[in-house]
Amino acid sequence: MNSQKTYILGIESSCDDTAAAVLCNNQVLSNVVATQKVHEQYGGVVPELASRAHQQNIVPVIHQALKNANIKKEQLSAIAFTRGPGLMGSLLVGTSFAKSMAMALNIPLIEVNHMQAHLLAHFIKENTTTAVPNFPFLGFTISGGHTQIVKVSDYFTMEVLGETLDDAIGEAYDKCGKMLNLNYPAGAEIDKYAQMGNPHAFKFPIPNVKDLNFSFSGLKTAMLYFLQRETKNNPDFIQENLMDICASFQHTIIEIVIKKLKKAVKQTHIKQIAIGGGVSANSGIRNALKDAEQKWDWKCFIPKFEYTTDNAAMIGIVGYYKFLQKDFTQNTITANARYAI
Ligand code: KG4
Ligand code: ZN
Repeated sequence: MNSQKTYILGIESSCDDTAAAVLCNNQVLSNVVATQKVHEQYGGVVPELASRAHQQNIVPVIHQALKNANIKKEQLSAIAFTRGPGLMGSLLVGTSFAKSMAMALNIPLIEVNHMQAHLLAHFIKENTTTAVPNFPFLGFTISGGHTQIVKVSDYFTMEVLGETLDDAIGEAYDKCGKMLNLNYPAGAEIDKYAQMGNPHAFKFPIPNVKDLNFSFSGLKTAMLYFLQRETKNNPDFIQENLMDICASFQHTIIEIVIKKLKKAVKQTHIKQIAIGGGVSANSGIRNALKDAEQKWDWKCFIPKFEYTTDNAAMIGIVGYYKFLQKDFTQNTITANARYAI
C-alpha cells in the first residue's frame, strides 16, 4: 500500500449543499458543508437560487476546509470535484472552481460521479475497527434526489440494478410532508411522528413496478386523494391523525423498500447492503434492516451521518482511489447533469 501522504481536496456542489473536505489518504481531516437555507420557504430546491448560493459559499467553504485540516493549499496533491449528476447551474460552480484551482496550483484534477461517491463513502477510514463492506455488495442510495440499487463489484465497477422511475424516496417524504403542512424537508419530522403512531391505521397502495425499479408518485397521489376525502368530512382530520398518517405512510415506504431489497438479494445472491443518502437516517428503515440481519442473515452498513447526506468527504475518498490509479481529468472537462454510474 502507498506509504506516502496524499492530500485531496474534495468539492461538492451538485444540489443545494456547498461542501469541501480535505482527506489525507483515506482519512478525513476536515469536512465542511454550507447547507442552503434559502430553499426552505419554497418547499423544494430552486435551481437558480442554488447556483447563486454556491457562488457565494464556495470560497469561504474551501477556505474553512483547508483551515480545519491545517493544510496549506500548496500541500494539496489533487483536487476532486463532483462532475454530475445534479443541477447544471450548481455543478458548474464546483466544476469551474476546481478546474481553476487545479490549474493555478498545477496539480491533478479528478472528476467524480456523485452516485459513485455515495457508495464509496463506506470506505472512509474512521478508526481501525470500522467495518467496511466486501466486494461485491449492494449499494442502496436513498435521498431527496436519489433512489438507486447498485451492484458494486469493485471501487469502479458498478452496475445500476434499479432506480426510481419518477420521484425519489426523500421527495415522496417531502411532498407528502407538504400535504400534511409540515416544513421542508419533512422526512425527519414524518419519521418522528411515525414512531408515535399506528402503522396499520390507514392503508396506502404498494406500487406494482417490475424488476428492481421504484415508483413513488402513486403513493404521493394516493396520499393527496386520501387527505382530500378525509378533510372534506373532517377539516381537522390531519391534526387529529397526524401520527397515524405518518406511521402508515412510513410503513408503506418500508414495505416497498424491503420488498425490492429482498428481490435484489435473491437475484444477485449478495447479502451485504450498504445504504447511503439522507433517508438512510430513517428509523423505520434502519429497524427493518436490523430485522433483516437477524431474519435473513443480511449484513447492513450505514456510514456516519455526515458522510451519508451530501458532503465532500465522499468526493475526496473517490479522489483518493482515482489518485492511486493516476486516473486524472483533462482541464477541458465539463459538468454533466445526467452523468450515469
Ligand atoms: O442526502 P440528503 O441530505 O440530500 C439530498 O437529497 O441529496 O437527503 C435529504 C432527504 C430529504 O428528502 C429529507 O426529507 C430526507 O432526506 N430525510 C429523511 C430523514 N431525514 C432526512 N427521510 C426520512 N426519514 C428521515 N429520518
Ligand atoms: Zn446525493
